[in-house]
Amino acid sequence: MKILTVLGARPQFIKAASLSRYIKKSKLPIQEIIVHTGQHYDKNMSDVFFHEMNIPKPNYILNSGSLSHAAMTAQIMIDLERIVEEETPDWVLVYGDTNSTLAGALVASKLHVKLAHVEAGLRSFNMAMPEEVNRILTDRVSNLLFCPTDGAVQNLRKEGFENFKNSHIICSGDIMLEGVNYYREKSESMEVSEDYLLCTIHRAENTDNEFKLRSIINALNELSASIQIVLPLHPRTRKKLFEFGIELKFPSIDPIGYLKMIDLIRGSRMVLTDSGGLQKEAYMLGKYCITLREETEWVELVDNGYNILVGSDKDLITKTTIDKLQDPIEISNSLYGDGNTSKIIIDSMISMSAL
Ligand code: UD1
Repeated sequence: MKILTVLGARPQFIKAASLSRYIKKSKLPIQEIIVHTGQHYDKNMSDVFFHEMNIPKPNYILNSGSLSHAAMTAQIMIDLERIVEEETPDWVLVYGDTNSTLAGALVASKLHVKLAHVEAGLRSFNMAMPEEVNRILTDRVSNLLFCPTDGAVQNLRKEGFENFKNSHIICSGDIMLEGVNYYREKSESMEVSEDYLLCTIHRAENTDNEFKLRSIINALNELSASIQIVLPLHPRTRKKLFEFGIELKFPSIDPIGYLKMIDLIRGSRMVLTDSGGLQKEAYMLGKYCITLREETEWVELVDNGYNILVGSDKDLITKTTIDKLQDPIEISNSLYGDGNTSKIIIDSMISMSAL
């Protein structure tokens, strides 16, 4: 079986690493062709993950970074169409909700190559997010929809996916759990003993809105007077802070690799983020998460009291953070499967290839 994997952004490298590791370990007759779209291209946004996580070297590297949404999606589609035609894979495999995901999905669908979507069925119900558009359209043309949670399965059912010929919904658990389990053991020994909050901000809905970005940074500036804040800064956020003339009153750091990230989560008092992946990693590593968004795709975290949505309101962010610092949580359940997602994905692709 030949799988053509399309990836391009940081969270996709992390998810794909687990699946590639499983394919290698399983010794199954599977050939994986990796196409890196070039959406993320900085050393610390891309190369570091390939090195640290032993992701096989991409067979193709495209050049789509720093383009507008339409130009990026279109450029990937033009290059990918040629590659898929030459490689004639049994499957195209895409992850998540980025422009690279959508481009891969559209090319596979137009060329009538079977499409598998890992992280299917997630919804924020906010169509202003580019990610929401990408994931809904990708789901619609996918043949295998691997849902990380029961909630994601329910979302697809409500949208009528069970009636779509050629769409098969599978509750696979979350592939990110495999990465966390694997690297938690391997991550550098913890050197951090200080009290700190770990924070990331990169969503367009926050970074591209001056009012929201200023409000979040004001909250962090205020909190930094009483507790250290570790803020690995996404290139988009750095650019926008400069453009809007917003001042950070504490030092930030460059984006970091996955091992360091796992270490930093483990050592932190709490996580503040607008990232999807980090909300789950916080939970998987026993930390409370304050989410700097109005909604989340990971509703089970909120429902179980492990996550709170505070948006970008300065006073709400500071007050909630101070309150939650007094109120540590205990996590004992498992919301994202049992860490066997790669096996479920590969087994399903093999059985559907045989049809
Ligand atoms: C993208 C995804 C988002 C995912 C996130 C993970 C889309 C629409 N969004 O958002 O779903 O959660 O990746 O990080 O696909 N840039 C650099 N160097 C890099 C990468 C990006 O300077 O290595 C710059 C780009 O030129 C661009 C900005 O950062 O100006 C944003 O990058 P982009 O790929 O558009 O989206 P992300 O915010 O990273």
